[in-house]
Amino acid sequence: MSVSDAVATIEQVRDYWDRRPCNIRHSARPIGTREYFDEVKARKYFVEPHIPGFAQFERWHGRRVLEIGCGIGTDAVNFARAGADYTGLELSPASMALAQTRFEVFGLKGTFCIGDGERLPEVLPHQRFDLIYSFGVIHHTPSPRAVIAGARELIRPEGELRIMVYAKNSWKAAMIDAGLDQPEAQSGCPIATVHTRESIEDLLGGLFTIASAEQAHIFPYVVDKYLRYEYELQPWFAAMPKPMFAALQRRLGWHYLIVGKPI
Ligand SMILES: C[S@@+](CC[C@H](N)C(=O)[O-])C[C@H]1O[C@@H](n2cnc3c(N)ncnc32)[C@H](O)[C@@H]1O
Repeated sequence: MSVSDAVATIEQVRDYWDRRPCNIRHSARPIGTREYFDEVKARKYFVEPHIPGFAQFERWHGRRVLEIGCGIGTDAVNFARAGADYTGLELSPASMALAQTRFEVFGLKGTFCIGDGERLPEVLPHQRFDLIYSFGVIHHTPSPRAVIAGARELIRPEGELRIMVYAKNSWKAAMIDAGLDQPEAQSGCPIATVHTRESIEDLLGGLFTIASAEQAHIFPYVVDKYLRYEYELQPWFAAMPKPMFAALQRRLGWHYLIVGKPI
């Protein structure tokens, strides 16, 4: 079920993301500046436009939000700007340091803690949240079920779990299997598990019901140009009518967007 068969430890996962925090090259401006963070945000939501609709930032005004694996804080700032009482948990100190700098630069309030999402009740004892959100994280950790079990303990009875994990039946997984792509921008990702509807049911089973599970996101750009901050569609996607590309994303998107309700 994994696109990388290696069995990795949590330390290897942490070291990998510490070496190169996720999306750190989304801007060429000096890292940690306002301009840098603005460009990171613009690029992320340009390339992954389904994120704001999935996160529903405005909905969490005045509510307690826990993000597992906040990375460099792109979604984090949007929860905080929308008025959420935001807590970010991150395994990688280098990533979390940038998320914290980002909050300082924009004068936002939030709580951050370094820790392993597989040990939530230990890391955040006696805390309860209205939303537990995790985008592109749980498929990178050795024991994803431990994350979900911990989330079940920390979620309020009327709360919501919103997670994105990678989809097995996807264009991207097909390209990876054919040796034409890799799961992350940086090679050597220690764990990148891919999911089917059935494996998601196993992951959440007995803890959360699945309110919705939808696929989204095929990356359509020429990679060499994308690395130079140019956005040219691959010729096969450029030739494709937009409704056809949208249908392909719904059926073969890399991102499985899951909403869970506690049982
Ligand atoms: C692909 S990045 C996504 C970051 C962020 N959610 C985003 O969308 O930009 C994966 C992140 O998950 C973090 N991560 C992986 N396993 C984790 C764990 N067990 N606990 C907390 N964070 C974890 C990594 O350190 C990394 O920052």
